[in-house]
Amino acid sequence: MNVRRDDLSERNKNAWSRLYRSTPRLVWGSRPVGFLEPFLAEELAAGRKFPRVLDAAGGEGRNLSVLARLANELTLCDASASALEKIPTDLAAKVRRVQCDLDKTPFQNGEFDFILLCDVVETLPEPLPALRELHRILAPGGTLICNIPGPEDEVAGVEMTELGPNRYLYHSEFFYQFLEKQEAIKLLESAGFVVGRNKLMHWEEEAHPEFRGTVHQHTSRVFLVQKPPAAKPR
Ligand SMILES: C[S@@+](CC[C@H](N)C(=O)[O-])C[C@H]1O[C@@H](n2cnc3c(N)ncnc32)[C@H](O)[C@@H]1O
Repeated sequence: MNVRRDDLSERNKNAWSRLYRSTPRLVWGSRPVGFLEPFLAEELAAGRKFPRVLDAAGGEGRNLSVLARLANELTLCDASASALEKIPTDLAAKVRRVQCDLDKTPFQNGEFDFILLCDVVETLPEPLPALRELHRILAPGGTLICNIPGPEDEVAGVEMTELGPNRYLYHSEFFYQFLEKQEAIKLLESAGFVVGRNKLMHWEEEAHPEFRGTVHQHTSRVFLVQKPPAAKPR
């Protein structure tokens, strides 16, 4: 299939927005993604708090209940206004909602201490500008958690049309790519992050209305990365 790279990002964002509008149901369901609580078990058990937390491209907010346990102040951003409108009322009351593109957000340098980027990197035709922007808005010493699936993900290539090496469209609409561990590390380091703990996680997902009709499995590497602390003035 011949799709110009410049068109992909806009097409892709429009496809997600259409998906959110296509059903009154929550596309991603109301349970947090299966890797989040196990990956953050230590932080949650210790009652660790981060002052300012961002759910980046957080969709309909399925992960907010976990993030609320870690955060004093919670913000969710997404390119899709339709996603933001679908955040359930009880969660919406706890979160500042911002519609923006991850490549160019309205946030200040260092505005957040902790950022979650869940199920997003693999859907971005050009993930590096978004990761650089998240690095900009993360405070020095701050933490970003993201998952980056590789070819071992059970959905990789399934019902997908190949656009080029390791680049696909799912159902002719939604962009996906699957990175090997070393490619994922290189991407994160290129954006300025220091890669810390990382783990291959496995979980089950319920069916997603209008997107994936059956219960399915995912395997994806989850990364905890940090923005290096600012150097102390001499
Ligand atoms: C697979 S969904 C994941 C949603 C959410 N993080 C979750 O785990 O439920 C990908 C999300 O990325 C958003 N998105 C895609 N491209 C974006 C961009 N360039 N800037 C901001 N959000 C974007 C879509 O609107 C969609 O909500």
